[in-house]
Formats: sequence, C-alpha cells, structure tokens
Amino acid sequence: MKTSTNIRILLLTLFIIAITLLHYLTPLNLHYLHDIFQRLYYLPIILAAIWFGLFGGLACSLTVSIVYAPHILFQWGGHLTIELEKYLEIVLYNVVGCVTGLLVQRERERSVELQKTADGLELSFKKLQAQSEQIIAIEANLRRAEKLSTLGEMAAVLAHEIRNPLGSIRGTAEILKDDYNPGDPKYEFIEIQIKETERLNRVVEDFLRMARPLPSEMARCRVQDELETVVMLVADDARKRQVSLQLESAASDVIVRADGEKLRQAFLNIAINALQATASGGSLTILTSVCGVEDGSNVCEIRFCDSGCGINAASQAKIFEPFYTTKPDGTGLGLAISRKIVEGHGGTLEIESAVGVGTTVIIRLPIPLDGAMNSPAI
Ligand SMILES: Nc1ncnc2c1ncn2[C@@H]1O[C@H](COP(=O)(O)OP(=O)(O)O)[C@@H](O)[C@H]1O
Ligand SMILES: [Mg+2]
Repeated sequence: MKTSTNIRILLLTLFIIAITLLHYLTPLNLHYLHDIFQRLYYLPIILAAIWFGLFGGLACSLTVSIVYAPHILFQWGGHLTIELEKYLEIVLYNVVGCVTGLLVQRERERSVELQKTADGLELSFKKLQAQSEQIIAIEANLRRAEKLSTLGEMAAVLAHEIRNPLGSIRGTAEILKDDYNPGDPKYEFIEIQIKETERLNRVVEDFLRMARPLPSEMARCRVQDELETVVMLVADDARKRQVSLQLESAASDVIVRADGEKLRQAFLNIAINALQATASGGSLTILTSVCGVEDGSNVCEIRFCDSGCGINAASQAKIFEPFYTTKPDGTGLGLAISRKIVEGHGGTLEIESAVGVGTTVIIRLPIPLDGAMNSPAI
C-alpha cells in the first residue's frame, strides 16, 4: 500500500477516535454539544468516500455506526422512540457514505475514460501531424521532380541544337587541317579544336541518351554474348594500357530478357571506367554467375573487378550523379546512364571500392522463368 493511503487511513482513524471520545466524555446534559459531535462524523465519512470511493465511504460509515451505537445504547438509554433521531442519524451516516462513494467512483471512472479519449486524440493528432509532414515532403519532392523534368526537357532540346553546329565545326576544321602540315602550330591548334569538338559531341550524345532514352527493345539476350562483345571492343585499349583483361563466364548460358544494345552500353561504360582507373600491370576481371534469391527466382550477377586506384568515400557518394567526373576529359555520365539502364531492366548496380586496392561494380539482373521469357511485361 502506498504511504499516502496509509496516512489517509491514519487520519480518518484519528478523526473517528477523537469524535467518539468527545461523545463518550462529554456530559449528557450538554446535548447541544452532542448534536454538533453527531454531525462531525460526516467529515470522516465524506473524506473516506472522496479518497477511497464506495468501499471507503461504506467502511467508514459502518465503523462510525459501530463505535457510536454503544454510546446511544448505554449512555443515552437506547429507547427507540426517544432516541429515534440518533438511530436515524446512523442510517443517514451509511446513506451519505454510500451515495458520496458512488458519486465519487462514477466521477473517477468518467475522468479515466476522458483521459483515455484525450490520450487517443493526442495519438491521432500526432499521427495526423506526421502524415501531414509526409504529404508536405512528398509534395515538395514532386514539385522539384516536375521542375527537374522540365529543365531536363529544355536541356535536351538545347543539347540537340548544339549537336548540329558541332558537326559543321568539326567538318570545317578537318578541311582546314589539310592546308597545314603536321608540326605547324596551326595544325596543332586545329587538332585541339577537333579533339575538343569530339569531346563536346560525346558529352552531348551521352546527355541526350540519358535525358531521352530510346525505347527498349526487349528480347532474349545471352549475357555472355554481350560481355564477349564488350571485351572485344576494349581489348585493344587494355593492351595499350598493359592491363590484363579476363572474362570468366558462368558454365551454362545466362539468358535474360533485355535490350542487348543497351546492356552492352552499360557494360562498356563500366569496363572503360575500370581500364581508365587501372595502372599498367593491373587487371580487370569480369565474372558472371547465377544465384538464387529468397523468392525462389534466379538472378544473374556480373562483377567487374579491377585492381585500380579505387574510389574514396566522398567520391562514392557522388559517382552516380550526372556530370560528376574526376577525369579532365570525362563527361560524368557513364555510371548514371549505366545505372539507369540496369534499373530499367529491373536490376541493380552497386559499387564496392577500396582506395589503392580496386573497385568492383556489381550488376544484378533478374532471370525470368522460361515461360515468362516471351511475355511483353518483362
Ligand atoms: N572502376 C573505377 N575505379 C575508380 N573510379 C571510378 C571507377 N568507375 C568510376 N569511377 C569514378 O566515377 C566517376 C564517374 O564515372 P562516370 O560516370 O563513368 O563518368 P566519367 O567516366 O566520364 O568520369 C569517374 O570520374 C571516376 O572518378
Ligand atoms: Mg565513364
């Protein structure tokens, strides 16, 4: 029992004892004092009902009745007719204890219920607040996405417009170059002009590819075939850089439903990045494997492991951002395009890298069930 309850019980007991002693010790001829003492009993009864409810009120009124009864019976004579008023007072003690206790109890139950409703309301309010914050954030994101897509559209139109004059600049530079001999400073300038136009053209083309990707032509696609083509395309570059290039394919055919040309483009971007990051004497190994996933389907995993310079943590956070590049002639679009292509095929592209050790680019593509291979949904 709590200390406050004990104190309250003690107080009530002392109260009852004090009033009872006043009754028993005051001479009977001072009846007006007895009348006051009689009413004093209501104080502990009402207090008990307020503090302990119906049970407390009743227990106190019964106690008062028990201690008061002998006083009526033995000191006042106990005649029913003469002392009727005192007997009625005892009945009233119990009625007051009972009614006050009941009222207090009901009030308490109601306040508990009110508290519960208030708690529920507070919870709903918090939920509502969280939801409204979420809605505001989503709305802001949507607005930003809308703005970005308009900007992207405009930039794509601009890029398209830049491509044609670039072709003319390059063409005329080629013609001008014929008028000079190698070694002539003007010849060198024109060479630089051609190289820079080529780079600009590459940026514009990459950008257009990303901003307005061509619709995918999904078909049965053997992953090994695409990788072999990529290895063939970069073999010469690898030889020049003195980087050993190896393709280790899965034992059986890995067939995915994909746009072969786009997949090849993604693989090529990653292979070129790996070669550019690897110093002579290093290696690039491309591994293909098939692994099962939790839902019972299979996934094809292609790993491009290079022993290059690696990517530090700060750069790792940015390499998928369009136009992020650490190369003087880079476009910063290779990885962004590759990831877009892979995700467009329902796959994922991840990068694991350690500075000075190397980088591994992991592409995972879903392998559809045989029956689903020809469905247009995949
Ligand atoms: N295999 C890799 N090893 C080290 N750094 C890499 C590798 N692949 C990508 N990167 C980093 O990611 C950046 C972005 O790559 P990418 O989007 O292909 O653009 P770009 O090749 O034109 O710079 C590169 O500039 C380079 O810093
Ligand atoms: Mg690149």
